[in-house]
Amino acid sequence: MRNDATYEEVAVPALRWTLDPCGKHLNHGSFGAVPVAVQREQQRLREVMDWNPVRWFSSLATNIATARVQMARLLDVPEDTLAFVLNASAGASVVYQRLMDRGPAHVVVTNHGYGAVSMGAQRLAERTGGTFRTVDIPLDAKSDDVLALVGEAITAAPTTLLVIDQITSATARAFPARELCLLAREHGAQSLVDGAHAPGVDPHPVCIDADWWVGNFHKFVCAPRGTAMLYSRDSDQALFPVIDSWGARDPFPARFDHTGTLDTTGWLVAPFAWQHLEDTIGWAEIRRRSAALADDAVGVLRGALEDLVDNPVPDVGMPVGPMRLLALPGGLGRTREEADALRVPFIDETGIALSFTSFGGVGYLRLSTHIYNAIEDYEYLAKVGVPLLHRWSIDSRRGA
Ligand SMILES: Cc1ncc(COP(=O)(O)O)c(C=O)c1O
Repeated sequence: MRNDATYEEVAVPALRWTLDPCGKHLNHGSFGAVPVAVQREQQRLREVMDWNPVRWFSSLATNIATARVQMARLLDVPEDTLAFVLNASAGASVVYQRLMDRGPAHVVVTNHGYGAVSMGAQRLAERTGGTFRTVDIPLDAKSDDVLALVGEAITAAPTTLLVIDQITSATARAFPARELCLLAREHGAQSLVDGAHAPGVDPHPVCIDADWWVGNFHKFVCAPRGTAMLYSRDSDQALFPVIDSWGARDPFPARFDHTGTLDTTGWLVAPFAWQHLEDTIGWAEIRRRSAALADDAVGVLRGALEDLVDNPVPDVGMPVGPMRLLALPGGLGRTREEADALRVPFIDETGIALSFTSFGGVGYLRLSTHIYNAIEDYEYLAKVGVPLLHRWSIDSRRGA
């Protein structure tokens, strides 16, 4: 395959999906999609499990350990730093729980943080008698601006924990995660990096300078849902799984291999999913094609939106390969709740699955492309979806 080939010139090799062929799936970033081969491998394991459950669960921790070590090798991090968790939220919960009995937690998050992760951080601060502050970072802030604003916040008042995103959900942008972790450490604070979107998107997804990092493998990597990993820079022995089980007396990360009675076939399949996409298309090629398609999609949608909104393609400061942010017609998605509420009616009316987000009182639509998307998907969005959004925006302003 030529390196300079555009996505249109390269025939998509044999990756098959079970996505509804009548729909347009333009939101891989929220809940992923699992290729047929990966589903089959998981189903094969489930059949082994249901053939002899006692045998299965008796060797499960050993098998999880094997998959965990394989993932550490694929991600190029030391084996004793990485544990499986069910999702990014569970990984963050593990870290918050670890900090519960260490005195007041003085936590700093940003206004780009994932709501559920930031809420957990706030609860940690409240429960420990600490403080909780949110740093406001403009949408278009470049790396140096982000570092300056966060630096100001963590030096202005005691800070014990900085929670930052590697790739943001609502604003589809990157943050200088490594530099922020080093900055936090320099000022005596620990760092939790929310890398939910990073695996597969970033060629080196684990932020090894974070005290803790969490990443989802059920997003861009296309592993079955419920598959995420928690990294701890110094194999933090105070980390315990959300579910206390037989591993409690084992060291980190082995204690996370014990989950009680639970279907963790997704974890066992994670190395297969990673390798399957690598062997079928290759991660570098998937990243290249997804980014090229996202650029072309923005070109198509800019044309459809420019008569409806002032600035259809806002500057997000540090854009991310397969993700893009576009402004919604005025009046739509001014809050997270309003943005979320668009998702299902939009699918019902158009068949297009899209992420709607809200930031700073403005509504956006977020694209996250994957290898199964084609430019026709975005042409359809421009032709059918954008006029509907326009109509909804007029209705919402009339109702306001
Ligand atoms: C930035 C970010 N963090 C955390 C999460 C939570 O992921 P999960 O629902 O898998 O726990 C998401 C989900 O989309 C996210 O985008």
